[in-house]
Amino acid sequence: MDMDQAPRLNPEQLLKRYQRSWIAGSDWSDNTGAMASFNPADGSALGEVETVSEAGVNAAVASSRRAFAAWGRLPALERSRILEQVAAAIAGRVNELALLETLEVGRPLLDATQLNAQAPGILRRYIGMADGVRGDVVTADERQLGLSWRRPRGVVGAILPWNFPVMNVMVRLAPALAAGNTVVVKPSEHAPRAALALAQIATEAGLPEGVFNVVLGDGPVAGQALAAHPDVDLVTFTGSTATGLAISRAAATTTLKPVLLECGGKSPQIVLDDCFDDPGIWQPVFFSSFWNSGQWCAAKTRLLVPRARLEQALDGLQGAAAAWAVGDPMAAETRLGPLVNTAQQDRVLEYFDVARREGTVVELDCPRDTMTEKGCYVAPAVALEQPRGSRVTREEVFGPLLTVEAFDGIDDAIALANASDYGLMASIWTNRMDIGYRMARQITAGGLTITSSAEAAMASVPDIAGACLEPQKQSGYGPDGGSQGLWAYTTSQSLTLAS
Ligand code: NAI
Repeated sequence: MDMDQAPRLNPEQLLKRYQRSWIAGSDWSDNTGAMASFNPADGSALGEVETVSEAGVNAAVASSRRAFAAWGRLPALERSRILEQVAAAIAGRVNELALLETLEVGRPLLDATQLNAQAPGILRRYIGMADGVRGDVVTADERQLGLSWRRPRGVVGAILPWNFPVMNVMVRLAPALAAGNTVVVKPSEHAPRAALALAQIATEAGLPEGVFNVVLGDGPVAGQALAAHPDVDLVTFTGSTATGLAISRAAATTTLKPVLLECGGKSPQIVLDDCFDDPGIWQPVFFSSFWNSGQWCAAKTRLLVPRARLEQALDGLQGAAAAWAVGDPMAAETRLGPLVNTAQQDRVLEYFDVARREGTVVELDCPRDTMTEKGCYVAPAVALEQPRGSRVTREEVFGPLLTVEAFDGIDDAIALANASDYGLMASIWTNRMDIGYRMARQITAGGLTITSSAEAAMASVPDIAGACLEPQKQSGYGPDGGSQGLWAYTTSQSLTLAS
């Protein structure tokens, strides 16, 4: 990874570059409002961005509709050629995107750079898949020839959260554009600039104007207007379950349109007895619980272990914590930065209080040399002895608080894993694949992993756009990722030739 470019970027100049909505290939302003943002590492002001009223959303949707007339009809190969140029341009600006992310949400710069280096790959993945979107030929009756094919849906409205400002955009944008749709993105008010940067980079790289618009504003104004807009053909959303409900309602106010929702999670990670001899598992267990300070929907925030192993699990996590310095996101040694803002910090600390009232909380020994009072820091901790069904075992904390729960036998582990309103992810540690597979079949989650050893965990590189997962229960619905994720941005049309 090339970090050489990072020190040459001037944060102030970078922030000033991205202040207004991006509509029809240029800055857009209706002078109706502004919102301020702050660096969560020290509370310093990052400046303001302009918000739009409903008029801005209307302008963006109209621009996307105009652009769709040409983009949706381009030969797939030509679309792919342009998107490849966009992917190459993003690859050249990863350090800039990473710095924006660090400034706005506090992700450690090194981590942000490594993560966002995968952004072009997501686009390339879907470019590769787009050519494979095929239809059917039906010849069951020799007097009829039935044909069906997939076509883009049209204008996609994407309403997105703050936790991965670049990747949240990429995983929605890439399949939508590759399938021939145009997109209006409404990024989170807490992290608006990365989406703007992506849109500008894409325009400079040759993406036709209006194919990718960005509107800035609050959820109840800009987000609501986008979801409800009669000329939006599909709404795609990542964020909380409560907002997912509001968006579903908004989307249904004027027209019928499909909604894809990826909402909260409270995902279990089960470690079976046979993996306790492998001391290496605690690093990947720690990672999957606390990476991004627990601020990701797929975080495994419930660790389920055999009752006799509770103490060993706590020791394992304590040992792993030494490698996870919490503090200044610009410092090279930092692996966990601050939470996104003071509201999130207060919300998470409230959950710490709840967990203390219902059981005990043990702080983990992460190095904290650069952690300051001014930043929105919360260091990782585990909640123990929580009664079954208690709040911290059920509600999404979205912060670095992991519950460690004991199970008595495999059936109990499955029941505990399923004792959640959410159904996003689940993972099982065992080298008995037969048992792991049987358990996986009984757990309600969109994405499951079975890992046999630390070595296996280290060797498997996460494949962000690879396999499709479909959130279950209150985690949402609609395919996300893989070829089915691409299909979700298309619709079917059929033709019957009768003779
Ligand atoms: P949120 O769900 O409130 O916001 C996500 C997006 O929806 C933002 O762009 C927001 O402006 C928009 N929005 C909010 N209210 C809206 C409405 N009524 N109509 C249309 N759009 C609306 O998430 P937020 O405030 O960023 O975080 C709050 C909590 O949500 C977190 O603490 C966490 O529990 C959860 N969350 C879950 C995420 C996930 O990936 N599953 C990501 C981010 C947050």
